[in-house]
Amino acid sequence: MLELMDLSCGYGSMQVVKHLDLAVDKGSVTAILGANGAGKSSLIMSLAGQVDIFSGSIFYRGEEITKSSPMERVRKGIALVPEGRRLFKSLTVKENLVVGGYTTDKDQAGQSMENVISIFPRLGERLNQKSGSLSGGEQQMLAIGRALMADPKLLMIDELSLGLMPKAVDTCYKAIEALNKEGLTILLVEQSTQRALAVSQSILVLESGNTVWQGSASEARKSSEMIDAILGLHDSEK
Ligand SMILES: Nc1ncnc2c1ncn2[C@@H]1O[C@H](COP(=O)(O)OP(=O)(O)OP(=O)(O)O)[C@@H](O)[C@H]1O
Ligand SMILES: [Mg+2]
Repeated sequence: MLELMDLSCGYGSMQVVKHLDLAVDKGSVTAILGANGAGKSSLIMSLAGQVDIFSGSIFYRGEEITKSSPMERVRKGIALVPEGRRLFKSLTVKENLVVGGYTTDKDQAGQSMENVISIFPRLGERLNQKSGSLSGGEQQMLAIGRALMADPKLLMIDELSLGLMPKAVDTCYKAIEALNKEGLTILLVEQSTQRALAVSQSILVLESGNTVWQGSASEARKSSEMIDAILGLHDSEK
């Protein structure tokens, strides 16, 4: 589905992610872990075309997209749920969803909207509510819903659980698991090692932009103490 070869990206003259190799299988969930500032957001934003790529290449479904524009990548089926959600807070739930569907035609947008509402019925009940007045959990549902409006094949989510109550996290994860069962490939940045291990098949751990651990989730479970040590986590923070 996605192959990154020797990928480096960053800002201006500052290289943030360094020489990363990663293969993401179709239909899989891959989690990216790492301490604050490790380069997780920069990496997935570079895949969305929003951070400069310095060297290396990105192949998506067999096609090189290293130089494709953000819009072209959305059209090809790559959607990003950004860290902090970045909703249009003065717009309603429905208007935010419509914006998410701008790359598709009207029929597809209508179908996607129905799909989003069936995944998150809570959004369907609040279509005319300003998104700024939604709860944190509802805002995350809307951010995911907005990304789904583009009818993606690869969904990238930055910090799914950050700042949410456990119940809202459960709702979002249930949706992610259901979407994955339907065939959506998912790339997830997650603060919680336990959540990442529960939902993913593959794990990538970054430290200062370097890959310090990479492997299957089952191997990661055996190495979870090592991964927590890399992340600087203590028992109470897992
Ligand atoms: N727009 C920017 N301009 C310059 N440097 C940036 C920019 N955004 C991020 N950086 C730097 O890139 C590095 C990696 O940041 P990034 O946000 O990718 O990390 P992260 O792993 O997502 O961290 P967090 O867990 O806090 O979200 C940091 O040193 C950060 O200061
Ligand atoms: Mg980040």
